[in-house]
Amino acid sequence: MFYRELRPQPQAEADFDEFLNSLHRDLTDGRHDPNDVVRDTLYEIYYGAGKFGEGIGRAPSLSNLSPAARAVIHNFDPRNITTEPEHYTDIDSRAYQERKPFIWLWQMYDRSPLGQNAVLGHRFRRMLAPLIFKSVGENFKCWHFVEWSYGYNLSFGDNVVVHRHVLLDDRGGIEIGNNVSISDYANIYSHTHDIHDIHTVYNRTTRIGDGARITYHATVLAGTQVGAHSMVGTGAVATKDVEPYHIKVGIPAKTVKVKENLEEPPDWDNGEELKSVSDR
Ligand SMILES: CC(C)(COP(=O)(O)OP(=O)(O)OC[C@H]1O[C@@H](n2cnc3c(N)ncnc32)[C@H](O)[C@@H]1OP(=O)(O)O)[C@@H](O)C(=O)NCCC(=O)NCCS
Repeated sequence: MFYRELRPQPQAEADFDEFLNSLHRDLTDGRHDPNDVVRDTLYEIYYGAGKFGEGIGRAPSLSNLSPAARAVIHNFDPRNITTEPEHYTDIDSRAYQERKPFIWLWQMYDRSPLGQNAVLGHRFRRMLAPLIFKSVGENFKCWHFVEWSYGYNLSFGDNVVVHRHVLLDDRGGIEIGNNVSISDYANIYSHTHDIHDIHTVYNRTTRIGDGARITYHATVLAGTQVGAHSMVGTGAVATKDVEPYHIKVGIPAKTVKVKENLEEPPDWDNGEELKSVSDR
């Protein structure tokens, strides 16, 4: 299914182009600290005028502000932020820190005055995605309010669409194939906790095969292998592997239909052992 082609007015389109091109250059040319670029960009996006270093951001101006207003300004700088995944003990801190400015920019952009403009948002997220995720294929399309854990354990094939409010917990790794659709409010996990000891965490890679669809409000549990061209129905919880071409619904998800095999399913065998890490 294809989307309609929608465009803003010419002047807005030119300004959007300039915004994205100059931001990408400043984030990647090695001449600036990405933390500074993110701090300044968020300041400009939220306040709509002026440069961080030329106005309210200077120390004298800052000191004239209320504590709450100063907290907002500080919150634009990724160096002042702690995120939930940073508290996990199995984090690769170096890999996360490299990405953290881009992750914070993505999350704060979505909540900014620019964040609900779909066409600009697709371009903005496509620009940031290769700086955050392990790999990103062609035509990646991501809507707003999508969350993940580390980013560096998350890979996308070509033509993947991720809809609103999706959670991609890549703590143990998520590998998403080509032509996959993940619908609104779906959750895909790759970690779980020991039922007796909450501090013992099991990380296990979750894979979503080519052409699979994880439909709205569905949940895929850690380590599940979702076969090619299969479908996890609305509200289903996939607790076990989903065979290629199967349509599964319910909790726990069970097969209600099998699609016609229009092509041979790829080898999707998993054979992976549970890995345990301590979260203490
Ligand atoms: C999985 C899905 C496609 C099944 O639709 P379908 O093939 O038309 O299946 P049917 O309506 O014939 O349902 C078959 C049976 O499963 C049940 N069922 C269907 N969807 C169900 C669901 N999400 N949860 C529980 N039971 C479900 C039906 O009640 C029916 O049960 P019955 O045989 O006892 O009457 C549909 O439930 C779904 O999740 N749609 C998601 C929509 C979508 O495409 N979202 C975006 C994708 S990118």
